[in-house]
Amino acid sequence: MGILNRIHLKSDSEIESIKKSSLLVGKTLGEVAKLMRPGIPLRHIDMVAEAFVRAHGGIPSCKGYRPYPGFPPFPSTLCLSVNETIVHGIPDDYVLQNGDIVTADCVVSVDGWHGDYAYTFEIGEVSEEKHLLVQRTREALMHALTFAKAGNHIGDISHAVESYVKPFNYGVIEELCGHGIGRKMHEKPDVPNYGPAGKGELIRPGMVFCIEPMISMGRRKIKEVDDQWPVVMADGKPSAHFEHQVAINSQGKTEILSTYQYIEEALGIQ
Ligand code: MF3
Ligand code: CO
Repeated sequence: MGILNRIHLKSDSEIESIKKSSLLVGKTLGEVAKLMRPGIPLRHIDMVAEAFVRAHGGIPSCKGYRPYPGFPPFPSTLCLSVNETIVHGIPDDYVLQNGDIVTADCVVSVDGWHGDYAYTFEIGEVSEEKHLLVQRTREALMHALTFAKAGNHIGDISHAVESYVKPFNYGVIEELCGHGIGRKMHEKPDVPNYGPAGKGELIRPGMVFCIEPMISMGRRKIKEVDDQWPVVMADGKPSAHFEHQVAINSQGKTEILSTYQYIEEALGIQ
């Protein structure tokens, strides 16, 4: 394994720094939640989010980001992914419709440390099957989180997601995965949403990573398109995505850095 592939372990004080950016993501998503209703253009939601992040000392990490030279830079603060768009949707002039499901994924840095997580919102009245997809994707994440423990392997998390959604015949997207995070938005290790338990990196003190199930109502296949950000399901079926960010501190204890508290307050859920 080359030096570039190394897992960057973080000290407790570095984890505290990451927690600050993570908290700002939570508060930003709380502002976003207030706008999640029919009639609101995606571009407006992104504008509000960007202003909020900057007003609180953060820098939007996705804006201007390119995975490799030549790829178009990501144009906005949020990824807003509607229905069959699973991730990396671009906030454009699309106006939210009753019955849509839309994932807001937000990455910010504060003092050079990145916070990153996502939540799928239901717009107005959604169909029962879309509602269940959203609920079960969130439950898959909560189930997987219980395996994010020192001494377990990354594969235990992957297997937890896959086995949770399997009975529902949903698609588990394999091309994209969760990831380590710190001074860079994407670090080692990869955290896939499928695969055997007991395999992959050993989870140990100092690791900070994101777990992010991406689940579709239909087949797992995504559309093949070159050099475009949005990742869209090939069969056009709806998809959901939730993401949490966790750290393993020096004592080997798991800390969940992300919070949906501000979202839930805004939505009036308790
Ligand atoms: N949360 C997303 C991820 O982990 C955010 C990436 S958007 C990008 O991949 F534009 F910055 F790539
Ligand atoms: Co992420």
